[in-house]
Amino acid sequence: MNVLLIGGTGLISTGIVKALHTRGAAITVFNRGQTDDRLGAVRHLTGDRNDFPAFERAMAATGPWDVVIDMICFRPDQAESDLRAFAGRCGQFIFCSTVCTYGNTQTIVPTLETTPQTPLSAYGRDKVACEQLFLRAHAAGKMPVTIFRPSHTYGPGGNVINNLGWEPTFVDRLRQGRPIIVSGDGHGLWQSAYSEDVGVGFAYAAGNAKCLGEAYNIVGDEIVTWDDYTRRTAAAIDAPAPRLVHLPTDFLLAVDRPRYLALEEIFRFHGVYSNEKLKRDVPEYRPAMPYEEGVRRTVAWMDRHQTIVSADSDPMEDRLVAAWDKFSAETVKVFGPK
Ligand SMILES: NC(=O)c1ccc[n+]([C@@H]2O[C@H](COP(=O)([O-])OP(=O)(O)OC[C@H]3O[C@@H](n4cnc5c(N)ncnc54)[C@H](OP(=O)(O)O)[C@@H]3O)[C@@H](O)[C@H]2O)c1
Repeated sequence: MNVLLIGGTGLISTGIVKALHTRGAAITVFNRGQTDDRLGAVRHLTGDRNDFPAFERAMAATGPWDVVIDMICFRPDQAESDLRAFAGRCGQFIFCSTVCTYGNTQTIVPTLETTPQTPLSAYGRDKVACEQLFLRAHAAGKMPVTIFRPSHTYGPGGNVINNLGWEPTFVDRLRQGRPIIVSGDGHGLWQSAYSEDVGVGFAYAAGNAKCLGEAYNIVGDEIVTWDDYTRRTAAAIDAPAPRLVHLPTDFLLAVDRPRYLALEEIFRFHGVYSNEKLKRDVPEYRPAMPYEEGVRRTVAWMDRHQTIVSADSDPMEDRLVAAWDKFSAETVKVFGPK
């Protein structure tokens, strides 16, 4: 099987390449050559996918491909460039979309692939527009398409998120035993997937006729509350048990809406998605990595690459906790039992 990845050295795509190796695929990656390469024996094509004429010329000079996997298509103009480059020139085109296409406001969990897509974010809206372009091309017989919708995916090469978003200080806050803010009552539900597990799903959908014209959520099996997520992350990296401070999301947004945009658009909602359809059509997809081990590997990579930022560099969380503690104490003094 002759496979091209657009991207290839990123967080999820490194897992895909690893799983494709186990299938004995002939692998080519197209990227700018700027990101750490942990891929082993693959063929490299170098270029910028956003230089559409050059990208499309380079693609016309290669292939045809059994499978093309685009990991870094975020906008309709990039999807249109893909269609010019690959329609009629690949047996299957796999588009990496996102669960943010659903919009996260659904009240029934888990979210199925049939749930209407009403994205809240520009990111989600653009991914929906790309999905629709690709599915129209599929329906018109121009290019067989498969869509993957990952949720939170973590692993070496990425970072460790927290309930407020992607703060690079989170790991250091845990290590230092500083309080951790969790929105609401900490009971919001979350589901993470390890990058190499996700890679297996993509790699075994490649060349799989059942997957043509289909969209799949690709998520882990475990569902946790944000409180559990935070405690388990701390325990996994031998940090002290954290003091969890529950603050209303509306309060955080009133304080600094741009800073907490990810909370507004994603993390304040339950993020729980069904992976049953994927397991039915791609039986090789069986998430195997225990969270604690996955997070240890991720943090070890972050330590090696010095991507963990000191908690001292960002006093906001400590200042908010101090303000909240003071407000709570004064309110209890006024309204509490005398
Ligand atoms: N991680 C998550 O939690 C999550 C959740 C939902 C969806 N997703 C989706 O997953 C995808 C990201 O996957 P990933 O983690 O494998 O990728 P990634 O970490 O975003 O890696 C980017 C890859 O693309 C290459 N690249 C970046 N810009 C480029 C450009 N202009 N031209 C050519 N190559 C370029 C990078 O190499 P160079 O820097 O060397 O060019 C690298 O190989 C996205 O589509 C995202 O929407 C991720």
